Amino acid sequence: MSYFEQIDKSHVPTHIAIVMDGNGRWAKAQGKDRIFGHLEGVRSVKAIVKAAAKADVKYLTLYTFSTENFNRPAAEVSALMGMFIDSINKETDELIENGVRGLIIGDMNRLGADVIAKAREFEQRTADGKKLTLVLAFSYSSRWEITNAARLISQDVVAGRIKEEDINEQLFSSYLTTKDIPDPDLLIRTGGEIRISNYLLWQAAYAELYFTDTAWPDFKDEAFYEAIVNFQSRERRFGKTSEQVKADK
Ligand code: IPE
Ligand code: IPE
Ligand code: MG
Repeated sequence: MSYFEQIDKSHVPTHIAIVMDGNGRWAKAQGKDRIFGHLEGVRSVKAIVKAAAKADVKYLTLYTFSTENFNRPAAEVSALMGMFIDSINKETDELIENGVRGLIIGDMNRLGADVIAKAREFEQRTADGKKLTLVLAFSYSSRWEITNAARLISQDVVAGRIKEEDINEQLFSSYLTTKDIPDPDLLIRTGGEIRISNYLLWQAAYAELYFTDTAWPDFKDEAFYEAIVNFQSRERRFGKTSEQVKADK
């Protein structure tokens, strides 16, 4: 039986976040350059967006470019920026047809005007999508996001728009780039590393973590469905006992 057939359709994770890692090593293992791995990685993005929609996942967040990735060689950074623009140009029509809404989260101040314009165009053109929200974390890192939220909150306190005593978890969340997006239920990292790399640190507080050695260019629909089946075998207790969780059902 395929992994897709093994999915319990009654409790599919609402939000899956992915650290798409391993492109460079995948390419090098075949004697190719890193960019070749990134190009193949784009094919996996297309496959996983389709797979997520088919499984009825409502939110898919992809770690596409971290603020730390600006420290890579300039040629790789500019290739990734170019691929971001090209992919939006090539794929937006089909995403609209499939009911995908696109959102870009990250520090726009570090991006070029052409990239920012493309990101805004992508969000505007796909704004009516109802089937799946595709969130691209681009020029993103959690510590940037949390620090930025703290700054915005303090500005609002100083300006009298909110009071210090209004600050709670819900209000804090509403200052993050992910406001209005539910927290991820499942966080997948491909490529063999067992780390978070500054991704969704606040939002993933209670996410189930799934690590696979499969490199991102080899991660296609069945590998994604396998992660969902694995997720469904776990008991999420949110601090309670197993007995309490069973009684709540
Ligand atoms: C992930 O693959 C893609 C980005 C970070 C943009 P990597 O480029 O990190 O690939 P490895 O980890 O070097 O294999
Ligand atoms: C994380 O991958 C960022 C993205 C997938 C975009 P990296 O390959 O940059 O992570 P580290 O630096 O090895 O942890
Ligand atoms: Mg990597």
